Amino acid sequence: MSAPILTAQNLCRHFEVKTGLFGGSHTVRALDGASFDLVPGRTLAVVGESGCGKSTLANLVTMIDTPTSGSFAIDGKDIQPGDELRDKKLRAKVQIVFQNPYGSLNPRQTIGKILMEPLLLNRPDIPADEREKRAREMVELVGLRPEHFNRYPHMFSGGQRQRIAVARALMLEPEILVLDEPVSALDLSIQSQVLNLLTDLQDKFNLAYLFISHDLSVVRHFADDVIVMYLGKPVEQGSKEQVFNAPRHPYTKALMSATPMADPANRVERIKLEGELPSPLNVPVGCAFNPRCWKATDQCRAERPPMSGGDHGFACFHPEGPEQ
Ligand SMILES: Nc1ncnc2c1ncn2[C@@H]1O[C@H](COP(=O)(O)OP(=O)(O)OP(=O)(O)O)[C@@H](O)[C@H]1O
Ligand SMILES: [Mg+2]
Repeated sequence: MSAPILTAQNLCRHFEVKTGLFGGSHTVRALDGASFDLVPGRTLAVVGESGCGKSTLANLVTMIDTPTSGSFAIDGKDIQPGDELRDKKLRAKVQIVFQNPYGSLNPRQTIGKILMEPLLLNRPDIPADEREKRAREMVELVGLRPEHFNRYPHMFSGGQRQRIAVARALMLEPEILVLDEPVSALDLSIQSQVLNLLTDLQDKFNLAYLFISHDLSVVRHFADDVIVMYLGKPVEQGSKEQVFNAPRHPYTKALMSATPMADPANRVERIKLEGELPSPLNVPVGCAFNPRCWKATDQCRAERPPMSGGDHGFACFHPEGPEQ
């Protein structure tokens, strides 16, 4: 495996939010301690319920937002707040594709213009004819036709628009692509076409993917490595095989059991989670999952379990599987 292109250490993003009329405030721990590597040619999937901090993590990696604490490095260089504004080359290395293929493209621009714009802004050294040539090549690379170059976004289907969004993200030749629920808004049959395109592009350009999804059946096909998040905290991480075939954290096990598996050999008894997902404004003391966990003990209600277990990490005092 090649060396990581991005290394994140204990990344946290906390938000101060005002509560009530009397100047009270509260801290939302949207992301609370994520450590991981992104490796060229590999896909790291981040999974978890709505509000667990997936997009917060995506915003940090793409430098749209800055961490409250923790650090990350790209190509061995520690990233400080504002670096991306000072260094366009650094900014270009990480690009993002969002979930909504309808909202993310400017309806008044042709596809050609949409694709050329990143070059116009970031690479003024590239002459206009070369800019156009690259944009036309990209149209074909993502499986659209040459005549699409002069059309407007409303003339395309959702799947085609996501191809355009991917094309735009690739114009600056990034090394990392953050995919925030890139196929969730698409029909099932279209989802697999877009995922196949992403796989081909990853092979062609040796891209590192950070793939955010709440759909475990998609993750099972698409990911190499997985982080499972719960209320801002990674609770389990490892290779796809480790996390899917031998989950250690009860939350992972419950998530997996709720996902329909095509292969009967992989079917497990469904675990029904008791209770609601707690508010991120009021995260339970100890292990955040303890109020819903069938294994919780006094220790789980008092102490936060650290991530342990080496390359297959899990944050649990009473893990599933072999005793330690
Ligand atoms: N700017 C902000 N100010 C205050 N709280 C925020 C802010 N951004 C996110 N949050 C909170 O942080 C938590 C994590 O949000 P985030 O958008 O990262 O979740 P998510 O996992 O992407 O959810 P979804 O699956 O619904 O997209 C949520 O509780 C959210 O309300
Ligand atoms: Mg999100």
